[in-house]
Amino acid sequence: MDYYEASRRKAEELAKQETVRILSLETSCDETAAAVIENGRKILSNVVFSQIDLHELYGGVVPEIASRAHMEACDRVIDQALREAGMSLEETDALAVTKGPGLVGALLTGVNCMKGLAFAAGKPLVGVNHIEGHVSANYLTHPDLEPPFLCLVVSGGHSHLVEVEDYGVYRLLGQTADDAAGEAFDKAARVLGLPYPGGPRMDRLAEEGNPEAFSLPKPKTAGPYDYSFSGLKTAFINTVHGLEQRGETLPKADLAASFRRAVCRELMDKAEALVSSASWAADHQGHRAFAMAGGVSANRELRRMAAAMCERQGLKLYMPEIPLCTDNGAMIGSAAYYRLRRGEVSALNMNAEPALRLV
Ligand code: KG4
Ligand code: ZN
Repeated sequence: MDYYEASRRKAEELAKQETVRILSLETSCDETAAAVIENGRKILSNVVFSQIDLHELYGGVVPEIASRAHMEACDRVIDQALREAGMSLEETDALAVTKGPGLVGALLTGVNCMKGLAFAAGKPLVGVNHIEGHVSANYLTHPDLEPPFLCLVVSGGHSHLVEVEDYGVYRLLGQTADDAAGEAFDKAARVLGLPYPGGPRMDRLAEEGNPEAFSLPKPKTAGPYDYSFSGLKTAFINTVHGLEQRGETLPKADLAASFRRAVCRELMDKAEALVSSASWAADHQGHRAFAMAGGVSANRELRRMAAAMCERQGLKLYMPEIPLCTDNGAMIGSAAYYRLRRGEVSALNMNAEPALRLV
């Protein structure tokens, strides 16, 4: 029996098993992260090795440096995740790895590493969509959360409003026409001279500023629930250049606060327009749940605005705890559990898919 057939049979057995523990690896960008997750919900270990120090000098992620650093860190991070979970590789039930989207070289490092381990140990391997991983981070923080729910996915590469109809089943309701929210934060941070990664630094600085100090235009979009951030970014850059040309000292905290307010308002206004629309409200009487996912869901103001919006609209709010908002291995292990339960396993010809979509 070949590896794939054996994996499929093992997955069928695991679907009946009470406790399933998955070792997962995430290497799509600049974090080498591994975790051991029980039944998609419980974190037995979660190790994140950040490469920020390596990329800071260049003001952003350098793909070649990221791939090499993943290669060097993979084994160590996996060993540590197993050790902290108190398990050996043999004692795990299945393996999982991010297959996309992300940087191709970085993804390939993780995919090849886990293919080798899975084949050698005779364990099923599940290739996971990174964005599905971000959504699944909510299952780790909120053991009671079950689909269906609405989810605002806001990361470095995505700004999506999706309906999570079931585990692994998504319907796209809105998306960005240009930049993602995280990307906009990073670019604005760079204009203020803040080091990479800009998003969290903008957030911290913004806490000390006046969000009404500068007015930025409201983005125009094609659909009522779509997003656009490039106009906001350009207006922000022009504001900063105007101040510089007049020789004024940049009020950085006020600028950061004003930009953050504009981005968060755009994100939340659209989400609120959707949940208060007659058709959505009529369809969702029984399950009024709103979740957020991805790096930008760590943003303090976005979390405050989401809480206020859900209060107004009578929705239950779900957000991953802060360390699970940004890239980690635990979310990949959670997503993999629900794929594995449906018998979805990967063959050894699985490839990295840098442009993989959620829907
Ligand atoms: O989800 P993530 O870790 O990686 C991707 O899949 O893209 O998201 C990273 C993005 C970066 O753009 C980062 O600046 C942004 O999330 N980010 C934040 C915050 N924390 C991370 N943006 C605003 N406020 C934050 N607190
Ligand atoms: Zn991510």
